[in-house]
Amino acid sequence: MTRETLRVTFQPEGRSVFVLRGAKIVEAAGQAGLVLNQPCGGEGTCGKCRVEVLENAPEPTPADLRHFSPEEIKGGWRLACQLAVVSNLVVSIPQETRFFEQVVLTEGEGARHPFQPNVRKAFAHVVEASVTDQRSDVDRLRAVMGGEGLKVDLALVRELPAILRRNGHHVTVVLEGDQIQSVEPGDTRGSLWGVAFDVGTTTLVATLMDLTDRAEGRTQVVTSRTNPQVHFGDDVVSRITYAAGHTDGLDRLRKRLTACLNEMVLELCEKAGAEPEDVYEGTVVGNTTMSHILLGVDPAPIGRAPYVSVVREAVDIAAREAGLEINRNANLHVLPNIAGFVGSDTVGVVLASGMADGDDVVMAIDIGTNGEVVIGNRQRLVACSCAAGPAFEGARIRFGMRATEGAISKVVINDAVEVGVIGGGMASGICGSGLIDAVAELRAAGIVDPTGRILESEEALRQAGALGRIVTEFEGQMAVELVAGGSSKTGRAMMLTQRDIREVQLAKAAIRAGIEVIAAEFGVDPCGVSRILLAGGFGNFIRRSNARRIGLLPDIGTERIEFIGNAASAGAKMALACRDCRRAAETVSQRTEYIELAARPEFQSSYVEAMTFPEL
Ligand code: FES
Repeated sequence: MTRETLRVTFQPEGRSVFVLRGAKIVEAAGQAGLVLNQPCGGEGTCGKCRVEVLENAPEPTPADLRHFSPEEIKGGWRLACQLAVVSNLVVSIPQETRFFEQVVLTEGEGARHPFQPNVRKAFAHVVEASVTDQRSDVDRLRAVMGGEGLKVDLALVRELPAILRRNGHHVTVVLEGDQIQSVEPGDTRGSLWGVAFDVGTTTLVATLMDLTDRAEGRTQVVTSRTNPQVHFGDDVVSRITYAAGHTDGLDRLRKRLTACLNEMVLELCEKAGAEPEDVYEGTVVGNTTMSHILLGVDPAPIGRAPYVSVVREAVDIAAREAGLEINRNANLHVLPNIAGFVGSDTVGVVLASGMADGDDVVMAIDIGTNGEVVIGNRQRLVACSCAAGPAFEGARIRFGMRATEGAISKVVINDAVEVGVIGGGMASGICGSGLIDAVAELRAAGIVDPTGRILESEEALRQAGALGRIVTEFEGQMAVELVAGGSSKTGRAMMLTQRDIREVQLAKAAIRAGIEVIAAEFGVDPCGVSRILLAGGFGNFIRRSNARRIGLLPDIGTERIEFIGNAASAGAKMALACRDCRRAAETVSQRTEYIELAARPEFQSSYVEAMTFPEL
């Protein structure tokens, strides 16, 4: 049964999502890809999650009344963490309530890094040469830019005389760090874009960012795709094996990837009214194998004991050399890795979360095809990689899919199964957050036992009454019907099978065991950390209570679990918008101690223990 869904439109983006009646606005925002700041974990005590309801503002809650003046209440101001969706809403989210917008800002509360991109443009009138001014073209260009030390490469020197003389010496100079990247005729300052890529094993995310002084990175367009390399296997090991087992394997993997990245750039440019030639720099985060493949570096050593990377530090490469069809002079900055199985995506998470800047011990868990866990603070950082497999990204799940339109992202089971579908239409499959919900709710209903077994039909009827009818046999195994045939997009009933539940158990056990081992290494109890940050694009939002109920997370107070969305992408954006963030990324990469779980005897016992579901 698909419960009534309601539309929430977020401004100023104009982005609409559909959520189940009663869902909180933070959840709807997560579904729209907007991560809200929730310092008190949604308890209604900090007053930091302020939003303005522009249409259909509901009655204020007691927490609203404590935090807003009567005028603000009248104006539609509410706390997002307390605001339940009971009608279609239009909500405006101010800058200060947005989690990542606070990271790169030139001003405002919470600003941590200035807007200071590596590429910038300046309009210049270069003094013409004369009998009394015999300086070279390059020297006169440098002089007007006020930088004696600015580097100019030979390709530019070859083009410079024609560009200067054909345009009355009025040109736009594109600077990249201390290098003059190019010189363009006339005034092109109004167009300066950069692209930040998050290259995951299963999912690719690209963000086009306006880097002009006018926009300061605030104008962004985002798109995502399934990594086309999934045809060569759904995890990094199968990609490494493919690269090693075929003469042109690495090249094929690389070309598949870059072709898709180029397609994404085209789509983004079309949406933004820009041309690929207007994109002057790219940044990349990704797991270590993906970064190696993108750079054309053989990832074979990552796949063999002792599983080391070929290169750890950040790499700058001409974008065209990497196969990216953006501005012909553009640079591509690939952020540094930490180890063979902890990549620059984790560096991005640490960077964006700010966990390396404070004294509190924070744990960040990034759930993608692998699960990376980092714990630490400004004194020490420790990371590990958990071989979780791609279940939470919908792979290896019978009706699994990524968290895109049509995916079941929420499951509630009372007298019947009710599902929330991204986009609000009929379900086409189930994504990671829906899976966690489904398993947790089935566990609560007693239909799945602590070992993960779906009860036989008769047992289920005895245990759960009429609800037990959702248990059935499907493709030779026990299964639970989540959506009836008539209510799904494909017309077929949508099942959660016994094998799916085993996949969820394997994935959550790997992550949970990693959490236990890394916390012990750091010398704290997993529940003793001040906050757990959940990163990852799987559904943009999971119910924290359900993540605990299936044992994915330790039994820590909800108020100390924060959802930070796609923090890896945020890290790539920071590196694009702020040059200093690249240095910070290098420091994180060097400082973080990596522990290899397979080499820890205690990992096996933690893993076995974490396979079962906690008693209710
Ligand atoms: S009051 Fe909403 S997160 Fe703190």
